[in-house]
Amino acid sequence: MACFITFEGIEGCGKTTQMKILSEHLAEKGFPVVITREPGGCPISLKIRDILLDAVNSNMVPLAELFLYAAARAQHVAEIIHPALDSGKIVLCDRFTDATTAYQGFGRELDITLIEELNRLATGRLQPDVTILIDCPVEIGLGRALSRIDATAGAREERFELESFQFHRKVRAGYLRLAAENPQRFIVIDGNRSMGDVEAAVREAVLPRLSEG
Ligand code: TMP
Repeated sequence: MACFITFEGIEGCGKTTQMKILSEHLAEKGFPVVITREPGGCPISLKIRDILLDAVNSNMVPLAELFLYAAARAQHVAEIIHPALDSGKIVLCDRFTDATTAYQGFGRELDITLIEELNRLATGRLQPDVTILIDCPVEIGLGRALSRIDATAGAREERFELESFQFHRKVRAGYLRLAAENPQRFIVIDGNRSMGDVEAAVREAVLPRLSEG
């Protein structure tokens, strides 16, 4: 039974780790799972990811950024997500359209109607069945993300981590607003708890949806 599940949250919220743990759990239970991420997930979109996240590109204008995310998404949906869903897989995706609304819409303050239209175009109106938002305070998430950069000195995927706390506060508020506006799709999990507690909350949220189908 196909199911499209996305993971969202600010930098350092723990979503990537939680998505991997869930994918292992589902695979152990015999579910056919595909994990992927945005921007990226396939060779063309990975090249776009390099441009988007390279700290060297600090002068990229918000509209160019928006169009690059949309381009990466169009390719990723066509090449990876749609075929996987069509063959009955459970697709777990680290970030998707809500990230564009939160970062480019609420963070960069681009027009939300334009973003929603671009999201619809890039995805052919595909929407997640479930979105797990791992929420945590900016001080904690960004603190984790910045220490990760220190630990991997030389990595250049840090253009967003270098944004101000204020930017990330707007992104977090944007995510929480999206969750409040789409309660049937979003599950908000407090990412400030122990890893085990978050893991249990993610399972509790997802497993009933899979047995419903
Ligand atoms: P990641 O660190 O979770 O891999 O995400 C890469 C960065 O890209 C992260 O800082 C959030 C940002 N992003 C956007 O600004 N808009 C988007 O649409 C997506 C998918 C990610």
